[in-house]
Amino acid sequence: MYNKGTVIAGLAIFVLFVTFPIWFNGLDAGAMPKYTEAEMVPNGEKACVAPADVMRDTHMQLLNEWRDDVLRNSDRVMVKVDGKEYRKGLQIACMECHSNKEKFCDSCHEYAAVQPTCWDCHLTPAAIKEAQ
Ligand code: HEC
Ligand code: HEC
Ligand code: HEC
Repeated sequence: MYNKGTVIAGLAIFVLFVTFPIWFNGLDAGAMPKYTEAEMVPNGEKACVAPADVMRDTHMQLLNEWRDDVLRNSDRVMVKVDGKEYRKGLQIACMECHSNKEKFCDSCHEYAAVQPTCWDCHLTPAAIKEAQ
């Protein structure tokens, strides 16, 4: 009733197809992107708004919180880093220190395959320079 050969060949092709993402890169997600200190913080500041490991894990939540604070609760309270004050914001805080978006934010996001849409509206440091 069934053609055994065709069924097995079909199954084999199916298994190869669905596991393609696993074996395609030789079971390796590739090296983590590396940026130099100067690429990470071109203005030479030494501390972030939170410890680096916390920032690596939760900067997306922090940005959402800040956006809600500013836009929904009119809370633009300053964040103090090393005695210097920054207004809560994407350009006016993060990008003030991390002005090399391409080497810092983008290289890691490309690695992690995340595509934040923020830059559809918010200007990058490079776009601000271009506009001047
Ligand atoms: C559709 C356009 C749009 C998109 C997309 C967008 N924003 Fe905004 N965002 C705005 C506008 C408009 C303001 C208000 C600017 C102000 O009053 O300072 C704002 C303000 C903010 C603020 C508070 C103050 C400031 O100027 O930074 C944060 C933080 C913020 N956005 C983060 C984000 C993040 C993170 C993303 C991506 C995940 C994002 N936004 C995507 C339009 C946008
Ligand atoms: C006052 C300057 C300054 C501001 C403002 C700032 N950062 Fe940082 N950021 C740094 C410094 C300096 C480091 C490295 C700290 C360390 O190694 O201990 C860092 C580290 C990080 C890291 C970890 C990177 C790694 O490889 O360890 C991420 C992610 C990050 N920042 C994202 C952000 C985001 C998102 C914002 C805005 C919400 C922001 N930073 C605001 C200076 C700043
Ligand atoms: C060390 C790696 C790394 C660096 C550096 C980094 N990010 Fe991220 N970012 C991630 C990862 C991973 C995610 C996705 C997390 C998730 O999906 O939960 C992410 C997500 C985000 C998101 C949410 C995107 C979405 O669609 O919800 C925003 C906004 C963001 N990052 C902003 C920044 C900004 C701005 C910088 C530079 C100042 C930066 N990130 C630097 C790793 C990084």
